[in-house]
Amino acid sequence: MAKERVVLAYSGGLDTSCCIKWLQEKYDMDVVAVVGDVGQEHDGLEPIREKALAAGAIACEVVDMRQQFADEYLAKALAANALYENKYPLVSALSRPLISKHLVDGAHKYGAAAIAHGCTGKGNDQVRFESSILMLDPSMKILAPVREWDLKTRPEEMDWAREHGIPVPATKASPYSIDDNLWGRAIECGVLEDPWVEPPEDIYTMTTAPQAAPEEPEYVAVGFERGIPTGLNGERRGFLAVIEAMNQIAGRNGFGRIDMIENRLVGVKSRECYECPAGLALVLAHKALEDLVLEREVLHYKLSIEQSWANAVYNGQWFSPLKEALDAFCASTQRCLYGTVRLKFYKGSCTVVGRTSAYSLYDHGLATYDAGDSFDHHAAEGFIQLQTLSAKVWAENRRDQGAPAELFDAQRSAGPLS
Ligand code: ARG
Repeated sequence: MAKERVVLAYSGGLDTSCCIKWLQEKYDMDVVAVVGDVGQEHDGLEPIREKALAAGAIACEVVDMRQQFADEYLAKALAANALYENKYPLVSALSRPLISKHLVDGAHKYGAAAIAHGCTGKGNDQVRFESSILMLDPSMKILAPVREWDLKTRPEEMDWAREHGIPVPATKASPYSIDDNLWGRAIECGVLEDPWVEPPEDIYTMTTAPQAAPEEPEYVAVGFERGIPTGLNGERRGFLAVIEAMNQIAGRNGFGRIDMIENRLVGVKSRECYECPAGLALVLAHKALEDLVLEREVLHYKLSIEQSWANAVYNGQWFSPLKEALDAFCASTQRCLYGTVRLKFYKGSCTVVGRTSAYSLYDHGLATYDAGDSFDHHAAEGFIQLQTLSAKVWAENRRDQGAPAELFDAQRSAGPLS
Protein backbone atom coordinates (compact mmCIF):
# COMPACT_ATOMS: atom_id res chain seq x y z
CA MET A 1 0.00 0.00 0.00
CA ALA A 2 1.26 3.47 -0.86
CA LYS A 3 2.40 5.52 2.10
CA GLU A 4 0.58 8.62 3.20
CA ARG A 5 2.20 11.80 1.96
CA VAL A 6 3.16 14.99 3.75
CA VAL A 7 4.29 18.26 2.16
CA LEU A 8 7.09 19.98 4.06
CA ALA A 9 8.13 23.65 3.93
CA TYR A 10 11.82 23.09 3.28
CA SER A 11 14.64 25.63 3.58
CA GLY A 12 17.74 23.49 3.17
CA GLY A 13 18.81 24.14 6.77
CA LEU A 14 19.54 21.55 9.43
CA ASP A 15 16.12 21.81 11.11
CA THR A 16 14.03 21.11 8.04
CA SER A 17 16.50 18.44 6.84
CA CYS A 18 16.00 16.60 10.13
CA CYS A 19 12.24 17.10 9.67
CA ILE A 20 12.33 14.98 6.50
CA LYS A 21 13.87 12.00 8.30
CA TRP A 22 11.79 12.48 11.41
CA LEU A 23 8.50 12.51 9.46
CA GLN A 24 9.55 9.29 7.71
CA GLU A 25 10.53 7.58 10.94
CA LYS A 26 7.86 8.77 13.30
CA TYR A 27 4.87 8.84 10.93
CA ASP A 28 6.07 6.48 8.20
CA MET A 29 5.09 9.05 5.57
CA ASP A 30 6.51 9.97 2.18
CA VAL A 31 7.82 13.54 2.29
CA VAL A 32 7.47 16.04 -0.54
CA ALA A 33 9.63 19.12 0.03
CA VAL A 34 8.57 22.57 -1.17
CA VAL A 35 11.21 25.29 -1.40
CA GLY A 36 10.14 28.87 -2.02
CA ASP A 37 12.30 31.60 -3.48
CA VAL A 38 11.00 34.79 -1.89
CA GLY A 39 14.21 36.69 -2.57
CA GLN A 40 16.27 35.31 0.31
CA GLU A 41 20.06 35.05 0.17
CA HIS A 42 21.12 31.61 -1.08
CA ASP A 43 23.89 29.88 -3.03
CA GLY A 44 21.56 28.48 -5.65
CA LEU A 45 18.32 26.57 -5.20
CA GLU A 46 19.42 23.44 -7.08
CA PRO A 47 21.75 22.36 -4.22
CA ILE A 48 18.80 22.75 -1.84
CA ARG A 49 16.68 20.45 -4.00
CA GLU A 50 19.52 17.89 -4.01
CA LYS A 51 19.81 18.17 -0.24
CA ALA A 52 16.09 17.46 0.19
CA LEU A 53 16.30 14.38 -2.02
CA ALA A 54 19.49 13.22 -0.28
CA ALA A 55 17.72 13.50 3.07
CA GLY A 56 15.02 11.20 1.73
CA ALA A 57 12.29 13.37 0.21
CA ILE A 58 10.47 11.59 -2.64
CA ALA A 59 10.19 14.88 -4.53
CA CYS A 60 11.18 18.50 -4.18
CA GLU A 61 9.38 21.42 -5.77
CA VAL A 62 11.39 24.62 -6.08
CA VAL A 63 9.08 27.55 -6.70
CA ASP A 64 10.16 31.04 -7.71
CA MET A 65 7.65 33.11 -5.75
CA ARG A 66 9.32 36.50 -6.14
CA GLN A 67 7.03 38.04 -8.73
CA GLN A 68 3.90 36.91 -6.92
CA PHE A 69 5.38 38.04 -3.60
CA ALA A 70 5.91 41.55 -4.97
CA ASP A 71 2.63 41.89 -6.87
CA GLU A 72 0.17 40.22 -4.51
CA TYR A 73 1.75 40.61 -1.09
CA LEU A 74 4.22 43.50 -0.91
CA ALA A 75 1.97 45.74 -3.03
CA LYS A 76 -0.79 45.32 -0.43
CA ALA A 77 1.63 45.89 2.44
CA LEU A 78 2.73 49.12 0.80
CA ALA A 79 -0.85 50.27 0.20
CA ALA A 80 -1.33 49.79 3.96
CA ASN A 81 2.05 51.42 4.84
CA ALA A 82 2.35 48.33 7.01
CA LEU A 83 4.62 48.74 10.04
CA TYR A 84 3.91 46.53 13.05
CA GLU A 85 4.19 48.58 16.24
CA ASN A 86 5.02 51.51 13.95
CA LYS A 87 8.43 50.04 13.21
CA TYR A 88 8.62 46.60 11.62
CA PRO A 89 7.60 46.21 7.95
CA LEU A 90 6.41 42.60 8.53
CA VAL A 91 9.13 40.85 6.51
CA SER A 92 8.47 37.29 7.74
CA ALA A 93 4.77 37.82 8.35
CA LEU A 94 4.33 38.62 4.64
CA SER A 95 6.13 35.59 3.23
CA ARG A 96 4.41 32.96 5.39
CA PRO A 97 0.96 33.16 3.80
CA LEU A 98 2.46 33.04 0.30
CA ILE A 99 4.56 29.98 1.15
CA SER A 100 1.48 28.44 2.78
CA LYS A 101 -0.49 28.92 -0.43
CA HIS A 102 2.14 26.95 -2.34
CA LEU A 103 2.26 24.28 0.38
CA VAL A 104 -1.49 23.77 0.06
CA ASP A 105 -1.23 23.69 -3.75
CA GLY A 106 1.59 21.14 -3.39
CA ALA A 107 -0.48 19.01 -1.02
CA HIS A 108 -3.36 18.97 -3.50
CA LYS A 109 -1.02 18.17 -6.41
CA TYR A 110 0.66 15.26 -4.59
CA GLY A 111 -2.47 14.03 -2.83
CA ALA A 112 -1.01 14.75 0.61
CA ALA A 113 -3.34 14.92 3.59
CA ALA A 114 -0.82 16.74 5.77
CA ILE A 115 1.55 19.70 5.72
CA ALA A 116 4.59 20.11 7.96
CA HIS A 117 6.73 23.10 8.90
CA GLY A 118 9.95 23.50 10.88
CA CYS A 119 8.88 26.29 13.24
CA THR A 120 9.36 26.19 16.98
CA GLY A 121 6.52 26.50 19.46
CA LYS A 122 7.60 29.93 20.62
CA GLY A 123 7.34 32.13 17.60
CA ASN A 124 4.86 33.82 15.34
CA ASP A 125 5.71 31.87 12.22
CA GLN A 126 4.03 28.63 13.35
CA VAL A 127 0.81 30.59 13.86
CA ARG A 128 1.09 32.24 10.45
CA PHE A 129 1.73 28.96 8.62
CA GLU A 130 -1.01 27.05 10.37
CA SER A 131 -3.64 29.80 10.25
CA SER A 132 -2.96 30.39 6.57
CA ILE A 133 -3.04 26.69 5.70
CA LEU A 134 -6.26 26.11 7.61
CA MET A 135 -7.96 29.12 6.05
CA LEU A 136 -7.04 27.77 2.59
CA ASP A 137 -7.95 24.16 3.34
CA PRO A 138 -9.69 23.58 6.68
CA SER A 139 -9.36 19.81 6.29
CA MET A 140 -5.55 19.83 6.16
CA LYS A 141 -3.63 18.03 8.90
CA ILE A 142 -0.62 19.90 10.26
CA LEU A 143 2.58 18.48 11.70
CA ALA A 144 5.25 20.50 13.48
CA PRO A 145 8.21 18.18 14.15
CA VAL A 146 10.41 20.80 15.85
CA ARG A 147 7.62 21.43 18.35
CA GLU A 148 7.32 17.70 19.04
CA TRP A 149 10.76 16.19 18.99
CA ASP A 150 12.94 16.48 22.05
CA LEU A 151 16.17 17.60 20.48
CA LYS A 152 16.64 20.45 22.89
CA THR A 153 20.01 21.86 21.86
CA ARG A 154 21.87 22.38 18.64
CA PRO A 155 24.54 19.73 19.47
CA GLU A 156 21.78 17.18 20.25
CA GLU A 157 20.20 17.92 16.92
CA MET A 158 23.55 17.58 15.14
CA ASP A 159 24.15 14.19 16.77
CA TRP A 160 20.69 13.03 15.73
CA ALA A 161 21.36 14.25 12.17
CA ARG A 162 24.70 12.40 11.99
CA GLU A 163 23.10 9.18 13.27
CA HIS A 164 20.50 9.48 10.52
CA GLY A 165 22.94 10.21 7.70
CA ILE A 166 22.00 13.86 7.30
CA PRO A 167 25.02 15.98 6.38
CA VAL A 168 25.81 18.42 9.17
CA PRO A 169 27.34 21.78 8.17
CA ALA A 170 31.11 21.62 8.75
CA THR A 171 31.44 25.33 9.44
CA LYS A 172 30.43 26.63 12.82
CA ALA A 173 26.73 27.49 12.57
CA SER A 174 25.80 31.14 12.86
CA PRO A 175 24.58 31.94 16.37
CA TYR A 176 21.69 33.87 14.80
CA SER A 177 18.32 32.82 13.48
CA ILE A 178 17.80 34.53 10.15
CA ASP A 179 14.76 34.94 7.95
CA ASP A 180 14.99 37.09 4.85
CA ASN A 181 13.23 37.98 1.64
CA LEU A 182 12.73 40.89 -0.77
CA TRP A 183 11.27 43.07 1.99
CA GLY A 184 14.22 42.69 4.36
CA ARG A 185 15.99 40.49 6.83
CA ALA A 186 15.21 39.47 10.42
CA ILE A 187 18.04 38.56 12.79
CA GLU A 188 17.35 36.98 16.19
CA CYS A 189 19.08 35.01 18.98
CA GLY A 190 22.65 34.85 20.28
CA VAL A 191 23.99 37.98 21.89
CA LEU A 192 20.95 39.93 20.60
CA GLU A 193 18.86 38.32 23.35
CA ASP A 194 20.35 40.88 25.74
CA PRO A 195 18.39 44.04 24.91
CA TRP A 196 21.17 46.21 26.35
CA VAL A 197 23.86 44.91 24.01
CA GLU A 198 24.47 46.85 20.80
CA PRO A 199 23.94 44.62 17.74
CA PRO A 200 27.33 43.55 16.39
CA GLU A 201 28.11 44.85 12.92
CA ASP A 202 28.39 41.32 11.49
CA ILE A 203 24.68 40.61 11.79
CA TYR A 204 24.02 42.89 8.81
CA THR A 205 24.43 41.77 5.21
CA MET A 206 22.05 44.03 3.27
CA THR A 207 23.18 47.36 4.69
CA THR A 208 26.56 49.08 4.88
CA ALA A 209 27.42 50.55 8.27
CA PRO A 210 26.24 54.20 8.14
CA GLN A 211 29.70 55.49 9.08
CA ALA A 212 31.23 53.54 6.17
CA ALA A 213 28.61 54.72 3.65
CA PRO A 214 29.50 57.19 0.85
CA GLU A 215 30.31 60.76 1.84
CA GLU A 216 28.01 62.17 -0.87
CA PRO A 217 24.24 62.01 -0.62
CA GLU A 218 22.39 59.92 -3.21
CA TYR A 219 19.08 61.15 -4.65
CA VAL A 220 16.45 58.80 -6.02
CA ALA A 221 13.13 59.61 -7.68
CA VAL A 222 10.47 56.94 -7.14
CA GLY A 223 7.54 57.03 -9.54
CA PHE A 224 4.16 55.63 -8.45
CA GLU A 225 1.12 54.44 -10.39
CA ARG A 226 -2.01 53.61 -8.38
CA GLY A 227 0.20 53.51 -5.32
CA ILE A 228 2.70 51.01 -6.78
CA PRO A 229 6.30 52.04 -7.42
CA THR A 230 6.86 51.61 -11.16
CA GLY A 231 9.67 54.04 -11.86
CA LEU A 232 13.17 54.81 -10.69
CA ASN A 233 14.93 58.03 -11.68
CA GLY A 234 12.58 58.47 -14.61
CA GLU A 235 12.98 54.92 -15.94
CA ARG A 236 10.00 52.59 -16.02
CA ARG A 237 10.54 49.44 -13.97
CA GLY A 238 8.32 46.70 -12.61
CA PHE A 239 7.63 46.74 -8.87
CA LEU A 240 9.91 43.73 -8.30
CA ALA A 241 12.80 45.46 -10.10
CA VAL A 242 12.21 48.66 -8.08
CA ILE A 243 12.40 46.68 -4.83
CA GLU A 244 15.62 44.96 -5.88
CA ALA A 245 17.23 48.25 -6.98
CA MET A 246 16.06 50.01 -3.83
CA ASN A 247 17.61 47.31 -1.64
CA GLN A 248 20.93 48.11 -3.33
CA ILE A 249 20.62 51.91 -3.17
CA ALA A 250 19.32 52.18 0.38
CA GLY A 251 21.59 49.33 1.51
CA ARG A 252 24.80 50.91 0.28
CA ASN A 253 23.83 54.13 2.03
CA GLY A 254 23.36 52.34 5.34
CA PHE A 255 19.62 52.91 5.54
CA GLY A 256 17.04 50.47 6.89
CA ARG A 257 18.33 49.08 10.18
CA ILE A 258 15.89 48.48 13.01
CA ASP A 259 16.61 47.44 16.60
CA MET A 260 13.45 46.98 18.61
CA ILE A 261 11.63 45.15 21.36
CA GLU A 262 8.64 43.50 19.75
CA ASN A 263 5.47 41.96 21.19
CA ARG A 264 4.98 38.50 19.73
CA LEU A 265 1.51 37.05 19.32
CA VAL A 266 2.39 34.25 21.76
CA GLY A 267 2.86 36.78 24.56
CA VAL A 268 6.64 37.05 24.59
CA LYS A 269 8.56 40.30 24.25
CA SER A 270 11.55 39.71 22.04
CA ARG A 271 14.52 41.75 20.89
CA GLU A 272 14.47 41.91 17.13
CA CYS A 273 16.98 43.31 14.70
CA TYR A 274 16.05 43.92 11.10
CA GLU A 275 17.45 45.49 7.99
CA CYS A 276 14.78 46.52 5.53
CA PRO A 277 16.39 48.95 3.09
CA ALA A 278 13.77 48.78 0.32
CA GLY A 279 10.81 48.10 2.60
CA LEU A 280 11.37 51.14 4.80
CA ALA A 281 12.39 53.49 1.98
CA LEU A 282 9.34 52.61 -0.12
CA VAL A 283 6.92 52.96 2.78
CA LEU A 284 8.42 56.39 3.50
CA ALA A 285 8.07 57.49 -0.13
CA HIS A 286 4.56 56.03 -0.40
CA LYS A 287 3.40 57.89 2.71
CA ALA A 288 4.83 61.11 1.35
CA LEU A 289 2.79 60.75 -1.83
CA GLU A 290 -0.37 59.98 0.16
CA ASP A 291 0.21 63.16 2.20
CA LEU A 292 -0.01 65.11 -1.04
CA VAL A 293 -2.86 63.25 -2.73
CA LEU A 294 -5.27 61.86 -0.12
CA GLU A 295 -8.07 64.02 1.24
CA ARG A 296 -7.55 64.84 4.93
CA GLU A 297 -10.36 62.72 6.41
CA VAL A 298 -9.38 59.70 4.32
CA LEU A 299 -5.72 60.10 5.27
CA HIS A 300 -6.54 60.32 8.98
CA TYR A 301 -9.01 57.44 8.92
CA LYS A 302 -6.52 55.32 6.99
CA LEU A 303 -4.01 55.51 9.87
CA SER A 304 -6.21 53.31 12.04
CA ILE A 305 -6.88 50.94 9.14
CA GLU A 306 -3.11 50.62 8.66
CA GLN A 307 -2.63 49.62 12.29
CA SER A 308 -5.37 47.02 12.06
CA TRP A 309 -3.90 45.70 8.81
CA ALA A 310 -0.42 45.35 10.32
CA ASN A 311 -1.79 43.63 13.44
CA ALA A 312 -3.91 41.23 11.41
CA VAL A 313 -1.02 40.25 9.13
CA TYR A 314 1.49 40.01 11.98
CA ASN A 315 -0.95 37.69 13.74
CA GLY A 316 -1.32 35.32 10.78
CA GLN A 317 -4.66 36.61 9.46
CA TRP A 318 -3.59 37.17 5.84
CA PHE A 319 -6.46 35.10 4.42
CA SER A 320 -9.07 36.34 6.91
CA PRO A 321 -12.19 38.25 5.88
CA LEU A 322 -11.10 41.17 8.08
CA LYS A 323 -7.83 41.52 6.22
CA GLU A 324 -9.65 41.30 2.89
CA ALA A 325 -12.01 44.10 3.92
CA LEU A 326 -9.11 46.27 5.10
CA ASP A 327 -7.42 45.66 1.72
CA ALA A 328 -10.54 46.91 -0.02
CA PHE A 329 -10.40 50.16 1.95
CA CYS A 330 -6.72 50.65 1.14
CA ALA A 331 -7.23 49.81 -2.54
CA SER A 332 -9.94 52.45 -2.80
CA THR A 333 -7.51 55.07 -1.48
CA GLN A 334 -4.83 54.19 -4.04
CA ARG A 335 -6.81 54.91 -7.22
CA CYS A 336 -5.35 58.39 -7.74
CA LEU A 337 -1.98 57.73 -6.19
CA TYR A 338 0.15 58.72 -9.18
CA GLY A 339 3.25 60.84 -8.82
CA THR A 340 6.91 60.98 -7.96
CA VAL A 341 8.73 61.25 -4.65
CA ARG A 342 12.35 62.30 -4.32
CA LEU A 343 14.38 60.59 -1.62
CA LYS A 344 17.78 61.62 -0.32
CA PHE A 345 20.00 58.95 1.19
CA TYR A 346 22.93 59.96 3.29
CA LYS A 347 24.93 57.88 5.79
CA GLY A 348 22.10 55.88 7.27
CA SER A 349 19.29 58.35 6.73
CA CYS A 350 16.58 58.55 4.12
CA THR A 351 14.66 61.81 3.82
CA VAL A 352 11.82 62.85 1.57
CA VAL A 353 12.97 66.04 -0.17
CA GLY A 354 10.33 66.45 -2.87
CA ARG A 355 6.96 65.20 -4.11
CA THR A 356 4.78 65.92 -7.11
CA SER A 357 1.53 64.53 -8.52
CA ALA A 358 -1.04 65.34 -11.18
CA TYR A 359 -3.59 64.53 -8.45
CA SER A 360 -1.97 66.74 -5.82
CA LEU A 361 -4.42 68.45 -3.45
CA TYR A 362 -1.76 70.95 -2.48
CA ASP A 363 -3.02 74.37 -3.56
CA HIS A 364 -0.29 76.99 -3.59
CA GLY A 365 -2.82 79.82 -3.56
CA LEU A 366 -4.38 78.46 -0.37
CA ALA A 367 -1.05 77.71 1.29
CA THR A 368 1.10 80.72 0.47
CA TYR A 369 1.92 83.59 2.81
CA ASP A 370 3.21 85.58 -0.17
CA ALA A 371 1.47 87.39 -3.01
CA GLY A 372 -1.18 85.29 -4.71
CA ASP A 373 -2.85 84.27 -1.47
CA SER A 374 -6.38 83.09 -2.30
CA PHE A 375 -7.37 81.98 1.20
CA ASP A 376 -10.31 83.93 2.66
CA HIS A 377 -8.88 85.17 5.96
CA HIS A 378 -12.22 86.61 7.10
CA ALA A 379 -13.89 83.21 6.83
CA ALA A 380 -11.66 82.04 9.69
CA GLU A 381 -13.46 84.28 12.18
CA GLY A 382 -16.87 82.63 11.80
CA PHE A 383 -15.24 79.23 11.58
CA ILE A 384 -13.55 79.65 14.94
CA GLN A 385 -16.73 81.05 16.51
CA LEU A 386 -18.71 77.96 15.63
CA GLN A 387 -15.87 75.52 16.13
CA THR A 388 -15.43 76.71 19.73
CA LEU A 389 -19.10 77.36 20.53
CA SER A 390 -19.76 74.08 22.29
CA ALA A 391 -16.63 74.27 24.46
CA LYS A 392 -17.32 77.95 25.20
CA VAL A 393 -20.77 77.13 26.59
CA TRP A 394 -19.15 74.48 28.75
CA ALA A 395 -16.39 76.85 29.93
CA GLU A 396 -18.92 79.56 30.85
CA ASN A 397 -20.97 77.09 32.81
CA ARG A 398 -18.06 75.48 34.66
CA ARG A 399 -15.11 77.84 34.56
CA ASP A 400 -13.45 76.14 37.49
CA GLN A 401 -13.49 72.74 35.78
CA GLY A 402 -12.23 74.42 32.65
CA ALA A 403 -9.15 75.58 34.55
CA PRO A 404 -5.95 73.51 34.45
CA ALA A 405 -6.18 70.36 36.57
CA GLU A 406 -3.91 71.50 39.37
CA LEU A 407 -5.96 74.72 39.90
CA PHE A 408 -9.19 72.75 39.90
CA ASP A 409 -7.79 70.27 42.44
CA ALA A 410 -6.61 73.14 44.66
CA GLN A 411 -10.07 74.75 44.59
CA ARG A 412 -11.78 71.47 45.29
CA SER A 413 -9.62 70.71 48.32
CA ALA A 414 -10.57 74.15 49.63
CA GLY A 415 -14.20 73.08 49.91
CA PRO A 416 -17.18 71.63 48.01
CA LEU A 417 -18.57 73.41 44.98
CA SER A 418 -21.64 75.43 45.95
N1 ARG B 1 9.88 38.46 14.86
C1 ARG B 1 9.71 38.51 13.45
C2 ARG B 1 8.31 38.12 13.07
O1 ARG B 1 7.65 37.53 13.85
C3 ARG B 1 10.76 37.74 12.71
C4 ARG B 1 10.62 36.26 12.66
C5 ARG B 1 11.80 35.70 11.98
N2 ARG B 1 11.76 34.29 11.88
C6 ARG B 1 12.82 33.51 12.06
N3 ARG B 1 12.65 32.26 11.88
N4 ARG B 1 13.98 33.98 12.41
O2 ARG B 1 7.84 38.45 12.02
